Parts: sequence; C-alpha cells; structure tokens
Amino acid sequence: PTKAVILVGGSSRGTRFRPLSLDVPKPLFDVAGHPIIWHCLTAINKVPSIHEVYLIGYYEESVFRDFIKDSSSEFPNLSIKYLREYQALGTAGGLYHFRDAILKGRPEHIFVLNSDVCCSFPLNEMLKLAQEKDAEAVILGTRVSEDAATNFGCIVSDAHTRRVLHYVEKPESHISNLINCGVYLFAADALFPSIRSAIKRRTDRPRLASHRSSENLASSFMIDDDDTEKSEVIRLEQDILSDMADNKQFFVYETKDFWRQIKTAGSAIPANALYLQKALQSGSNELAPPSPNIIPPVYIHPTAQVHPTAKLGPNVSIGPRATVDAGARVKESIVLEDAEIKHDACVLYSIIGWGSRVGAWARVEGTPTPVTSHNTTIVKNGVKVQAITILGKECAVGDEVRVQNCVCLPFKELKRDVANEVIM
Ligand code: GDD
Ligand code: GTP
Repeated sequence: PTKAVILVGGSSRGTRFRPLSLDVPKPLFDVAGHPIIWHCLTAINKVPSIHEVYLIGYYEESVFRDFIKDSSSEFPNLSIKYLREYQALGTAGGLYHFRDAILKGRPEHIFVLNSDVCCSFPLNEMLKLAQEKDAEAVILGTRVSEDAATNFGCIVSDAHTRRVLHYVEKPESHISNLINCGVYLFAADALFPSIRSAIKRRTDRPRLASHRSSENLASSFMIDDDDTEKSEVIRLEQDILSDMADNKQFFVYETKDFWRQIKTAGSAIPANALYLQKALQSGSNELAPPSPNIIPPVYIHPTAQVHPTAKLGPNVSIGPRATVDAGARVKESIVLEDAEIKHDACVLYSIIGWGSRVGAWARVEGTPTPVTSHNTTIVKNGVKVQAITILGKECAVGDEVRVQNCVCLPFKELKRDVANEVIM
C-alpha cells in the first residue's frame, strides 16, 4: 500500500495569510469553493493504492474535526486522521515523531504534501516514475523565472535521467530555475533511515549547524543542550533532501501544469483562478453554467443569492449565504460566507471577508498580477503594496466608497476612499 501525509503546519504560522487566517486556519480556507486541503485530498483519492491519509500539524485537536468528518464521507476510500505535534517539529520532525503510525500496515511508499501549494498534484505520474526508476525519492518540480527561483528549494537534475544531482533550499544565488513544489514521494525504507541519519549527524557534530546559513537557523538547529525540544526540529528540505541528492536514488518529476504557493492572503486569488480553470477543463458540474452574465469559470455556493443582472466572472467564487445584488460586477475575486455585495457595486481582484458588506456603487479593487508571477505584491509609486484587496471578517465599505489595493483588518468600517493602505 501507499500512504499520504499532508503537512498542515500550525497557528503560529500563516502570519502572511492575515487577516484571513485570523478566522480560519489557512489549510481550511476556501478556494474554488473548497478548503485548500480538500484539493489535496481529491488528488490523493485518485491514487488507487492509498487508503490512509494523515494530516500532521500543531493546530489544536478540534480544528480539523469537522473537515475530517465531512471528507471521510466524501472520500469513503480514505481513512483520514489528524496527528498533532506537541510543538512545531519541522517538516520532517512530525513524520519522524509519528513514524510508528505511518509505518503501520507496511506501506511501500509515502507521499508528503505541503498544504500551502496549489497544483494538479500529478501523484500517479510520480508513483509511476518511482517504479520505473526504482527510486527512493521523487520530488515534484516546476520551472519558474530566474528571479523567483531563489525563494524556493532549487533542484539541479540530469536532464536525461531526471536524477536529482543537487538540492539547495532557498539558495542565496541562482543555481537552477527548477524548483521544489512541496510534493514528494518516498520509499518508506529510505525516508526514515535518512531522517535517522540526519539526527545522528546533528548529535555527532552539532557545531556544524552554526556554519550554515538559513533563515530558520536559529529556531531549528538550537545547539543549546537544555533546549532539547528545539533540537527535535528536523527540516525535510535542509536536513534530508540535500543529503538524498548525494546518496540516494532521488528523481524529479517536472510538472508543466500550473503550480502556485499559497502564502500571502492575496495568493488565494491566483489559486482560486487556477483551481476554477481546472474544474472548467474537467467539465465539473459544480461550476455555474455560462450565461450572458456569467463568464466562466464561476463557482456559486448553492445557498448564495446572485441577482440575474449581476455580472460575475471569470474566476469568481461566491460562498455560502453570500448575496450579490442587481447590477453588481464581480471579477477575479472570492466572496466569502455571508458577505453582501450591494447593487451596482464593483469587486475586482479582491477577497471579501465573512459577513462583510460592500455598499451600493462602491468599488473594491486590486490590481492584476502577471500570470507568471509568484509574487502578490506590486510596486505603486515606488512603494510595495498588496496587489489583491482584502477585507477581513465583517468589514463594511460605505456606498460609493472606493477601496484600492488595501488590506483591511476585521470589523473595520470604510467610509472614505482609501488606496494602498493597511487598515488596522
Ligand atoms: N506538521 C508540520 N510541522 N508542518 C509544518 C511545520 C511543522 O513544524 N513547518 C512547516 N510545516 C508545513 C507548512 O504548513 C507547509 O505546508 C509546509 O510544511 C512547508 O512550509 P514551510 O516550512 O514554511 O516552507 P516553505 O513553504 O517556505 O518552503 C517549502 O515549500 C516550497 C514550495 O511551496 C520548501 O519545501 C521549498 O523548498 C518549496 O519550494
Ligand atoms: P467584459 O469584458 O465582458 O467583462 O465586459 P465589461 O464591460 O463588464 O468589462 P470588465 O468587466 O472587464 O471591466 C470591469 C469594469 O467595468 C470595472 O472597472 C467597472 O468599472 C465596470 N463595470 C462593468 N459592469 C459594471 C457594473 O455592472 N457595475 C459597476 N459598478 N461597474 C461595472
């Protein structure tokens, strides 16, 4: 059998996802009508040999309860469990901590998925490559522009054999534009020994850590002996993958399909668009049928109320019980549960938070970012601002008010025009 792990992180993370993560843990935020990790489960469900899935993170136990309940009935072939780390153990620390559970039933292969990425998750293709090459690890890779590459894990591979020759996490200078998508497949009998030797290397030569340069250095490689907790943090990327490139049968499966990270709140907009387009291509019956006022793809929750004269799309998701009144225009946006868009309002490149109200003739708008961009900030008048306008929970935009490139914290009332601001 094969198993899958989704790394969901915890509440101290996702700070860049504010203000949306103030009200819902990022993995459960809805894009294209479903929680971010629902899209992972859908892909996992398409691998016939997977029957067990673990969400590993350090959110409280109750956080995923309803989601797991709902998903278990939606994906009856999958047993889904949440395994809670008592503290952040790093991307490989949780895997190691829960190794007994993961290895139960003797899985041959284990998929590991970062929860904060959006892509088509070509898991069956990765599994096929692993079998062809008798691989100990397969990483999903994608090509990005040279200036974006150093924000990710970078892969140097042999173009012919697809073998990973080198792996460097967020290198200081350019080494490759093939990057780590945050989706892996490991042979069970290679993964855990690799983690074990990483731990051993560290205990043998703890000082090595002080020579490494990495943004997470301080929190990850605590050399302080009293701080035994911190020393349990193990990072898949820095501690395991680089070593696998040197010593193991490690291959890369390069996807030509879409891929994006979901880090900032604004990055939910490209993710929403990409998943909606995927649903459109696959002929999903969840999407609103096209009509003169619906430019596909558009998702409208069955309980939402959209006036027939409102014009929606492309790339719009309307959440449960939201209302969109006559003559409103919504494009490239997410309107969350219970939000109200009053008549003739215009919402473009924006996220309208739970229960927020956009007044009549108001304009709430962001700025489109280039399709190839992996960045949701733009430079306006020499200043970095958020490309996507975001209203947190229960905000109110007055009638005829214009809001441009703003991030608005929950419960704010906007009575005057605002641009390029964070409203706290
Ligand atoms: N369970 C658990 N415990 N999960 C964690 C922890 C932890 O201590 N720390 C991070 N995660 C989860 C996050 O929720 C996320 O899904 C994933 O692990 C990776 O998060 P980060 O550690 O913040 O890494 P990153 O997103 O900056 O970079 C990673 O992903 C990129 C692709 O999106 C790296 O793998 C890069 O190489 C890669 O390019
Ligand atoms: P399409 O290209 O088919 O979408 O035609 P369109 O004329 O609707 O243009 P588009 O929606 O791409 O452009 C959006 C702009 O149109 C916004 O900046 C609005 O100013 C304006 N707009 C269009 N329809 C409405 C509407 O019903 N209400 C309001 N308030 N603005 C609208």
